[in-house]
Amino acid sequence: MKNFTKKAQLQQHLQSLRAGGAVIGFVPTMGALHAGHLSLIEQAQQQCDIVVCSIFVNPTQFNDPKDLEIYPRPIQDDIAKLTQAGCDLLFNPDVAEMYADNEKWHLDIGELEALLEGKFRPGHYQGVTQVVFKLFDIVKPDVAFFGQKDYQQVLVITQMVKLLNMPVKLVMCPIEREADGLAMSSRNIHLTADDRQHALILSKTLNNVKTKFDRNHIEQLVQNARAAINAEPGVTLGYFEIADGNTLRPAGNNTKKVVALVAATVGKTRLIDNVIVRD
Ligand code: PAJ
Repeated sequence: MKNFTKKAQLQQHLQSLRAGGAVIGFVPTMGALHAGHLSLIEQAQQQCDIVVCSIFVNPTQFNDPKDLEIYPRPIQDDIAKLTQAGCDLLFNPDVAEMYADNEKWHLDIGELEALLEGKFRPGHYQGVTQVVFKLFDIVKPDVAFFGQKDYQQVLVITQMVKLLNMPVKLVMCPIEREADGLAMSSRNIHLTADDRQHALILSKTLNNVKTKFDRNHIEQLVQNARAAINAEPGVTLGYFEIADGNTLRPAGNNTKKVVALVAATVGKTRLIDNVIVRD
């Protein structure tokens, strides 16, 4: 795997590959890679000739400086995992390579950035669109791969690509889970053994909603789900919603695509998860 820290060098290298007709796949990440990230690499390998992965802990998407500070950065392990997975190129820039001093701009993607995660993490999706815009501009991928784990992020990027007519195809990949159902996340390393057990209430509740969806009222399902999560020791619910899979507004009985989404703090760690209940 070739490792680039400078955008000009990566761009030059990609230009020659593109001239040779290679289809470029791109997997943006913040590192601390786990099987979820590697599943995106694998998808990209199946659909593209060259796979580029970026590792960049993007400061503008953290609204809590403490969260940014404790974000895991095991770069040597990450490089080993990507090499073993057969990833072709890594882009691992520092902050100065990505942002000018005091850089401030914001793409208005509408109410999607203010709902659910956006409400709990003001400015988060502004940071995400900023960095993904820049990364797309540098890599110019044909196809970019994102995880359903961050469902709202996929909608936000889809909206950005649409608004700016960016020539990239987006692919959403399924959530990779631990054997007991916990959605894989770089943040899981902060969970104590107890937290780890209590965290299972999230995937359990989502699955329960999925199973019962066709035979129950949405409001009742939401109420029961919130009660189940609130009753779990050590878990503080952020939100539990059953939403329209395209707009994230509350779903009704006739909504075509429906997704249940949850955020909760388990011990000291904020976790998110979701399940598509109707597609
Ligand atoms: P990060 O949290 O590192 O995630 C990188 C990609 O991996 C995202 O598309 C995310 O949805 C996906 N992913 C994470 N956990 C997953 C799981 N259990 N199964 C499948 N895919 C999973 O998301 C970001 O970084 C950043 O916001 C980024 C897009 C890189 C912009 O900074």
